[in-house]
Amino acid sequence: MPKIKVLFLCLGNICRSPLAEGIFRAQVAAAGLSEQIDCDSAGTGNWHIGEKADPRSIQTAAGHGIDIEMHRARQLADGDFQAFDYIVAMDESNLRDANRMRPPERLKAKVLAIRNFDSSSTNNSPTTAMDVPDPYTGTMADFELVYQMLVRRCAHFLAYLRQNHHF
Ligand code: 4NP
Repeated sequence: MPKIKVLFLCLGNICRSPLAEGIFRAQVAAAGLSEQIDCDSAGTGNWHIGEKADPRSIQTAAGHGIDIEMHRARQLADGDFQAFDYIVAMDESNLRDANRMRPPERLKAKVLAIRNFDSSSTNNSPTTAMDVPDPYTGTMADFELVYQMLVRRCAHFLAYLRQNHHF
């Protein structure tokens, strides 16, 4: 069976999506599904291409036993819409930008918002209030909050994949 490929998407690909990628990879490994699921991350913007993750993301991940030192930022590319099965956006503007950048051909990637995978979300929650907040101009506490939010949501997203793909 071909691997399921997941791309986490944010704006700069240095704060949120590298954390999501690291967390999700660890959850996939813990579930014994590393042969079934691959993941990566990208940003909609081009400012940080080639850079390492933000030091605050690296430190937050390391505090939870997750190593994202090897990450290098890259920008979302046309080919990603065919190479990946799922593109998972951190916030509303990433979701909108991904849908705008999507090539017109019918390509396989499903573009989703990670806010849909939070058990505390309700139909009444305003969508932007459920977004993973951009911590770039924030503090270490903001990065920890993002981490905790991503742990929950990545776990629910993994459960969704297991259900959809029967593994
Ligand atoms: P990210 O955070 O989208 O979670 O990687 C940001 C990183 C950089 C910028 C904005 C957000 N920036 O404006 O450079």
